[in-house]
Amino acid sequence: MITEKAPGKLYIAGEYAVVENGYPAILVALDQFVTCSIEESADEVGRIISRQYNNDQLSWRRMGDRMVVDKRDNPFSYILSAIKVTEEYAKTFGRTMRIYNIHIDSQLDSANGRKYGLGSSAAVTVATVKALCRFYNLPVDKDELFKLAAIAHFEVQGNGSLGDVAASVYGGWISYHSFDRQWLAQQRQYLDLRSIIELPWPDLNIESLHAPQNLELLIGWTGKPASTSQLVDKISLFKARRQDEYRHFLDKSKDCIQRMVDGFHRQDLETIKNEIRYNRDLLKQLGTNSGVNIETSALEKLCQIAEKFGGAAKTSGAGGGDCGIVAIDSNTNFGKVLKSWAKNHIEQLPLSVHFIDSAKSVKASVKNHLTSTK
Ligand code: PMV
Ligand code: MG
Repeated sequence: MITEKAPGKLYIAGEYAVVENGYPAILVALDQFVTCSIEESADEVGRIISRQYNNDQLSWRRMGDRMVVDKRDNPFSYILSAIKVTEEYAKTFGRTMRIYNIHIDSQLDSANGRKYGLGSSAAVTVATVKALCRFYNLPVDKDELFKLAAIAHFEVQGNGSLGDVAASVYGGWISYHSFDRQWLAQQRQYLDLRSIIELPWPDLNIESLHAPQNLELLIGWTGKPASTSQLVDKISLFKARRQDEYRHFLDKSKDCIQRMVDGFHRQDLETIKNEIRYNRDLLKQLGTNSGVNIETSALEKLCQIAEKFGGAAKTSGAGGGDCGIVAIDSNTNFGKVLKSWAKNHIEQLPLSVHFIDSAKSVKASVKNHLTSTK
């Protein structure tokens, strides 16, 4: 039995703008995981088994007289896409296809339906690709793993930045500039997968960041789940209708993230906090201008409380529910924030940043696997 895990994530800043090629965001990986285990099947049937996905539903809409299924919120779509892409890659290494059972255990989708919005579709994609690469003895480093998982995820969701996949692959704090997905879609038509993985991807840029010692990250959960893909669809309409305002938002967001990254380089918590506040305002403005409820009243309350006790707060990710984040000096009494959140029905998620040792990359585990099976 081969087992691999991939962490969940949260956006710190740069949401929505990062959907555009080359625009940056900052994310963190968190210590909640999706685990994928694979074993050879005993018969001619392969199975995908998951306790958490038992009650999943499929959403569909009517477009004229057609029934259009939205597979983007269904975890099985990501698992199947991860299998398809990894097997395509395995074939370029001359591997023989096998029949196997996949077991998925997700701490990011709890069985009682509490969905925190910590990037479960990205993590399940990364965990599945990682485990299958080991199963087929494919030597992949983090960059290759990111590209495989990004392709698998992109071919299901289609409208995301893939920043969540990057956080799940690289771990820790990262700055992420999204790659040109139109370029990728074109190359997929006529280049083989191995060549695409070997090429540098236009606009892609991922950098690990080091957080200042005194930066404490607090995470509050509003209790209400939100659909990222549907919120991004709505902002795409705004992009078409109000092009100048949208451009303005993009430019401001890019400058803000650049200043925040500088803050990380200088280990300067005050700069990071100021830019979190500024990014919150930009996103609030985007929400107001587009009519999309990004900062819901629960998220607003979450931010107000954190600000009252000296934190810098904002919505995290697409908003509309899910989580908010706070950067606060670890030397202050941030317990007051947590107490006040609890009184206001905001639940603290007591998670820590998860770092992934590059020495423990999949390449290393493939080598271990090879030596242990000799
Ligand atoms: O809500 P989340 O955590 O899935 O974040 C979405 C972030 C967006 O920038 C709005 C979309 C994306 O794919 O980057
Ligand atoms: Mg979300």
